[in-house]
Amino acid sequence: VSAPDTWLARPGGTPRGVHRVPGDKSISHRALLIGALTAGTTRIEGLLEGEDPLATARAVNAIGARATRHADGAWTVESAGASALRAPDAPIDCGNSGTTARLLCGVLAALPGTSTLVGDASLSRRPMRRVAAPLARMGATLTLSASDTLPVRITGARLQGFEGDAPIASAQVASALLFAGVASGQGVSLRSSGLSRDHTERLLRAGGARVTHSGDQVHLAPGAQLAALTVRVPGDLSSAAFLLAAAALVPGAALTVEGVGLNPTRTGCLELLARFGAEVETEILDAPGGEPVGRVTVTGRGLRGLDIAPHEVPWAIDELPLLLVMAAAAEGVTTLRGAAELRVKESDRLATVAAGLRALGIAVEERPDGLRITGGRLQGGTVDAAGDHRIAMAFAVAATVATGPVRITGTRQVETSFPGFLAAVQAAGLTVAAA
Ligand code: S3P
Repeated sequence: VSAPDTWLARPGGTPRGVHRVPGDKSISHRALLIGALTAGTTRIEGLLEGEDPLATARAVNAIGARATRHADGAWTVESAGASALRAPDAPIDCGNSGTTARLLCGVLAALPGTSTLVGDASLSRRPMRRVAAPLARMGATLTLSASDTLPVRITGARLQGFEGDAPIASAQVASALLFAGVASGQGVSLRSSGLSRDHTERLLRAGGARVTHSGDQVHLAPGAQLAALTVRVPGDLSSAAFLLAAAALVPGAALTVEGVGLNPTRTGCLELLARFGAEVETEILDAPGGEPVGRVTVTGRGLRGLDIAPHEVPWAIDELPLLLVMAAAAEGVTTLRGAAELRVKESDRLATVAAGLRALGIAVEERPDGLRITGGRLQGGTVDAAGDHRIAMAFAVAATVATGPVRITGTRQVETSFPGFLAAVQAAGLTVAAA
């Protein structure tokens, strides 16, 4: 069955309960790819079975490793190691998944032969030069479309090590280079302009690679040999954020998410929820494979506007659409600066959030690198999520405090990151359903 492309979200309800969310998307992609680069059998528990990581699983199978789902829900990746991987026979379809496309570029750059990556309409608009340029410096040949997007053709080579700056603070760029380094046995020394998620570094370290940080630099020592791991994927904080935000919107509501990843490079959204005025309690209970996991409880106390500064952007990059939509229900003005990167995500997220908020009666000023939102009362109406999963989920949650029902179109892509979203928010007390 294909997922519904329109939802109706009704106001009212008090978000509550103790919940779990599907596995972390970023860690799921990385576990599959590290499995392909590791000789032996990698076991992955809690893999996100959303369309994005499933695209990565198919890619892993296309390059000579074997990703298999088992009856107990765990996955394994069997591989003879990086030297046994090869360019795929046919183009790899990355679907809607920027992470699949960019991380794979790093692996394919080190494989003999020529590979082609394609994607859906949204992915085919997203910039790829950011990975193509540094991988070309390592010695691979990457050919992009005239607009620097997919399809990309990659002819692998015996790579050299990388030493230099990342064009932007992007975990996808850093990860592509680290994977190229691991796949070719070369070293990588990369300086980034900001702090982005470090799951690749943590997983590689757990597998035995020498990966260190100094300031804003990451180093991978040459000659990495990975040992096969069992990866326990925590719940995705970026998915949990929608449930937690629902509680933050409703004074007196309290909701807990358990078993969720609390890697400090991902928790900006919790800090920002607290600055919005919510009560946020976190507890780290475990750290399998170097990834902190625990429980978060949010209690709604009423929201007040806040300023989100440029240096905070990478830390909450995927939750910014949600926080911006919540700003509509906060007292006073909320501003975001330094977030032009949001324009090249699954949609132009500054434009789609601004259009959606205006459709619900909220005053928004759109700037090249951010938004200025004057809080008020969200009205009922129709919002186009423009095929962007996080925009769809953000408006579904915000409708809880609207004055009338909110119809959301273009919701189908929610399957990429949060399968079961409708059931999850219904269980939390929200009234959102397929329309
Ligand atoms: C991701 C990194 C982020 C994020 C994306 C997932 C990853 O992108 O927006 O959803 O898994 O590496 P950038 O690193 O390009 O900002």
